[in-house]
Amino acid sequence: MKLIDLHCHILPGVDDGAKDQTMALKLAQAAVEQGISHILLTPHHMDSHYLNHKKDVIEKTALFQRALVSEGIPLKVFPGQEVHLTGNLLDAVLTNDILFMDAGNRYLLLEFPHNEVPEYAEDMVFELTSRGITPVIAHPERNLGFQKKPDKLYDFVKMGCLTQLTSSSYMGVFGDKVQELTEKIIKANLGFAFASDAHNFEGRRFMMKEAFEKLVEREGSAVAEQFNLNAKNILNGEDVDTSDVKRVSNVKRKRFFGLF
Ligand SMILES: [Fe+2]
Repeated sequence: MKLIDLHCHILPGVDDGAKDQTMALKLAQAAVEQGISHILLTPHHMDSHYLNHKKDVIEKTALFQRALVSEGIPLKVFPGQEVHLTGNLLDAVLTNDILFMDAGNRYLLLEFPHNEVPEYAEDMVFELTSRGITPVIAHPERNLGFQKKPDKLYDFVKMGCLTQLTSSSYMGVFGDKVQELTEKIIKANLGFAFASDAHNFEGRRFMMKEAFEKLVEREGSAVAEQFNLNAKNILNGEDVDTSDVKRVSNVKRKRFFGLF
């Protein structure tokens, strides 16, 4: 199975990801070694540190794709943004400064502030969904608001959102609590795809191969294939099924009984 990565910071020199082209090409090579064939490049946009305008990301992605081809790295990249949730989001949509995850402007990779789910998030989701836009919530398992009240995630999916889980969260890189919540979100069918959110070779690596191997082991190959198919459908602007979701609080804890 060739993997699709929907969230990644390897476009060189635009945010806190790859510093320069040399590092970006090494990260791209690492992605290929993980079995990744397609990457949506999603530099931070409209958070407190970075503005990466649509036009610039499109140009830089085309340049990076050319560099990949000339280096013989078999990776297809697409321009995207990790869009931070702010009160200005609708303005950016209206002024055409948002890159969606698909060419048809349906799916929007949306990052909530790390420490909370803001009060106005529901209104913003309503404004977006009523315009035919589906927010894909980036790494909800790492958000303190969802950690405190995981069932909020069910509510957001019922409002029309999808989610994307970070592969390294599932592998425990962000600690036990984040790992456990990731596992529960998956059990509740509230996780739709893995993405790496890769930034570098230290803490923020790809780990897609490892996460998919664990997903096959824990949930079976059909679930793993569905995750990758969902990622493909998001990139292509096609439907993703959300009909089977459960509240996280309804997920039964696995009990382990000893042999004696
Ligand atoms: Fe990110």
